[in-house]
Amino acid sequence: MKPSFICLFFLLLLCFLHCLASGAVRQRDALNKFYFNNGARRSSSSSSSSSSWASSLLSVFGLKSKVYNNSMLKEGDKVVRLPGQPEGVNFDQYAGYVTVDRANGRALFYYFVEAAKNSGSNPIVLWLNGGPGCSSLGYGAMEELGPFRVMSDGKTLYRNPYAWNEVANVLFLESPAGVVFSYSNTTSDYARSGDRRTATDALVFLVNWFERFPEYKGRDFFITGESYAGHYVPQLAHAILTHKYRLINLKGIAIGNAVINKETDSKGAFDYFWTHALIADETIRAIHKFCNFSSDAPWTAPECDRAIDEANLAVEELDVYNIYAPLCFSSGVTVTPKLPSSENFDPCTSNYVESYLNNLEVQKALHANITKLNYTWSGCSQVIPSWSDQPPTMLPIIHELLSNGIKVLKYSGDFDGVVPVTSTRCSLKKLKLKVKAPWRAWMLNSEVGGYTVVYDHNLTFTTVRGAGHKVPSYQPARALEMIKSFLQGLHLPAI
Ligand SMILES: *[C@@H]1O[C@H](CO)[C@@H](O)[C@H](O)[C@H]1NC(C)=O
Ligand SMILES: *[C@@H]1O[C@H](CO)[C@@H](O)[C@H](O)[C@H]1NC(C)=O
Ligand SMILES: *[C@@H]1O[C@H](CO)[C@@H](O)[C@H](O)[C@H]1NC(C)=O
Ligand SMILES: *[C@@H]1O[C@H](CO)[C@@H](O)[C@H](O)[C@H]1NC(C)=O
Ligand SMILES: *[C@@H]1O[C@H](CO)[C@@H](O)[C@H](O)[C@H]1NC(C)=O
Ligand SMILES: *[C@@H]1O[C@H](CO)[C@@H](O)[C@H](O)[C@H]1NC(C)=O
Repeated sequence: MKPSFICLFFLLLLCFLHCLASGAVRQRDALNKFYFNNGARRSSSSSSSSSSWASSLLSVFGLKSKVYNNSMLKEGDKVVRLPGQPEGVNFDQYAGYVTVDRANGRALFYYFVEAAKNSGSNPIVLWLNGGPGCSSLGYGAMEELGPFRVMSDGKTLYRNPYAWNEVANVLFLESPAGVVFSYSNTTSDYARSGDRRTATDALVFLVNWFERFPEYKGRDFFITGESYAGHYVPQLAHAILTHKYRLINLKGIAIGNAVINKETDSKGAFDYFWTHALIADETIRAIHKFCNFSSDAPWTAPECDRAIDEANLAVEELDVYNIYAPLCFSSGVTVTPKLPSSENFDPCTSNYVESYLNNLEVQKALHANITKLNYTWSGCSQVIPSWSDQPPTMLPIIHELLSNGIKVLKYSGDFDGVVPVTSTRCSLKKLKLKVKAPWRAWMLNSEVGGYTVVYDHNLTFTTVRGAGHKVPSYQPARALEMIKSFLQGLHLPAI
């Protein structure tokens, strides 16, 4: 068995458990399906190395031909009021489609929330969820850092006091086409999904979005995201640099619990399981002795397969995306809403969001699904059948960004077992950067919010204490403090 199949096996098991619990396609399935499990394709695809990936982006001419007339479209995108929205909303919201390929009829859906204060000077933060194939609207906006969360009745919204639009204008992009409101009229486009198309479509989206919102041209711009967006975010930043598209004033990127280097990402998970007392000493010893997670490793020992099986079995009853979180034992929504809490994340939240976003009145208010898509809304794409290209590492692009003066924040919720802090530390070590400001605790409200270290070229690594994979869901106040410091170029508070 090749090492990639180990991961396939491990993650399919997680997927299997999850799929039993819910018919819908959700975030945890997608990372498994397309990231840890594409070994078969990887070895045959030399074009997925990061250098050839980078050179095969859209030509400058190709980009120009895709700048469409967006004038007068902004006002039509204004969201007057979302169903169930609370009173006293003090910011503007916009949502709608931006065409990225007229010939094929491909359009990406966005949801834009202006900053509650100083929208005219605060930066723009683009947020991307991963998967590949998961929704930035359903996860990012409705469960993590957006201004509203959905109550357990699936109908009523409440304010998230720690929303990132406290400090930025936040743009949520459903990417690529096929996720979930974003679509193509040429169905065969879905089978051509991959890292490269995702990056070029996102660039075309941005160029057209700035035509629609010209007052934002040149504003400080940050790209953020989580999980598989560890690929999307650096790749889009690279595409922006390559095109020298000056209207996008790229300042930095921030990626959370993000995959950036497959070998260390895979290995680090098992180290996390052992250091967090989830698997036996014998199991980790066998993994260390017999497993080789390198994508070039020709084979693996049966001892390795056995140890991986043992590890899978040991974690199978947990939510590996937050090993200390309670599980959701109910399906659907409640008739009357439970008292919500921004601080204690409800593990059944995805049910409420799914119900809310499948409501046709909500879709109408968001100007979504105007072509009457023939599938229902779910957290991750049901129409993307495969993922065509995926370099095994983002490290060269991260180097490139740093040497171009783009600030990079890598952050980790330290309760996540899927892309855990151990994986990230191993991956960052491979960048071979010197420490500039040594490892220290950072504080919020007299408590340790996490730890932080700054490397040369201003690469910052920050942990968020007590957060799972979706950091702002579990530690919203700490997540907001972290992003605020990053955007404003400040040090996280010390004692
Ligand atoms: C762009 O669209 C607007 C509104 O439909 C129209 O008034 C304008 O003439 C168009 N501009 C170009 C260059 O086609
Ligand atoms: C897709 O097709 C529908 C129906 O013909 C059309 O209304 C829509 O504008 C098309 N989308 C794009 C992006 O061209
Ligand atoms: C893993 O396999 C690769 C490729 O065969 C090899 O270069 C590397 O040394 C191996 N690593 C270990 C720790 O054995
Ligand atoms: C949805 O529409 C597409 C494009 O017309 C078609 O290929 C597909 O089979 C349809 N799916 C279902 C479930 O009807
Ligand atoms: C889009 O709208 C149609 C009804 O017009 C509905 O059946 C379908 O579930 C919706 N799809 C999504 C992705 O929301
Ligand atoms: C790092 O950040 C500081 C403060 O923002 C800035 O002065 C310095 O030029 C940056 N260094 C690099 C290598 O970008």
